Amino acid sequence: MKDLISIAGLSSEYVISFIHDAIDMKRDGWRNILDRKILALMFEKPSLRTRVSFEVAMKQLGGTTIYLSPAEVGLGKREAVSDVARVLSRFADVIAARTFSHETVTQLAQYSSVPVINALSDEEHPCQALADLLTIYEKKGDFKKLTLAYIGDGNNVANSLLLGTALTGMNFRIASPEGYDIKEKYLKMAQNFAAESGTEITCLREPQKAVENADIVYTDVWTSMGQEEEAELRRKTFAGYQVNEALMKYARPDAIIMHDLPAHYGEEVAPGILDSPQSVVFDEAENRMHAQKILLVRLAGGGEIPMAGYGLR
Ligand code: CP
Ligand code: NVA
Repeated sequence: MKDLISIAGLSSEYVISFIHDAIDMKRDGWRNILDRKILALMFEKPSLRTRVSFEVAMKQLGGTTIYLSPAEVGLGKREAVSDVARVLSRFADVIAARTFSHETVTQLAQYSSVPVINALSDEEHPCQALADLLTIYEKKGDFKKLTLAYIGDGNNVANSLLLGTALTGMNFRIASPEGYDIKEKYLKMAQNFAAESGTEITCLREPQKAVENADIVYTDVWTSMGQEEEAELRRKTFAGYQVNEALMKYARPDAIIMHDLPAHYGEEVAPGILDSPQSVVFDEAENRMHAQKILLVRLAGGGEIPMAGYGLR
């Protein structure tokens, strides 16, 4: 595998071994595996977690990063995406790109001779999904027989998570308002995975039904980056889709609450709910770094994680 553009490009075995590697890496994360490697971070949209977790991951692994901000990039405007990909490939060993259009990150991968990582596009957020799977595994000890309830927009985060749950053997329920469902293309891909792993995917309108006896309750913003002009309409449409104490009563008592962050308090989450003992959102944020270390090692570091001498495994 050269790039990580979509979770759909991974196999169940790849993801499971990835989680185990990430757990090992988390025990001792300072390793000189990516010495002399350079990661180019090219972002068309703002970021806290993705940028910082990639920068810290690279530094702890002995490599270095270069950051290109939204103002500097001009992908497809100042310069053709295909040329940006070919030029950056001459300088960097790996590229992580956050783009508006999924087509842009796909094109970058097509023209780049070095690995390209999708650091969020309008269709997917695969790095987030991998960190989320790591968090679920840590908190629940397994994936099998778990049910994840996703409340809200059938967006980029939902697409990657849906694919990730189907690959790892979890049931996925989504409650979203009409017009904001998961797109058919993602449902179909996930249903193929689910048929193999024997899991169920259920699309609903009522949050309470989705959350009933769920092990994980997940939500994301109602208005994603790039949709700001729809914010007012979305606030009205999604009004009944808030994760709050009343909704959590329908879930299992040991259910965890997840959110990729940033959160909009008073919208998709009630103020205070992410401070409850059920919330794991800050572990989830930290896990972005541990998961991405494995991704960087697998894509840019020859794939080998030297364990000898570290007392691991
Ligand atoms: N969850 C996430 O990707 O956060 P940032 O947008 O801050 O990177
Ligand atoms: N769905 C959100 C995720 C942010 C990490 C967005 O695209 O803005």
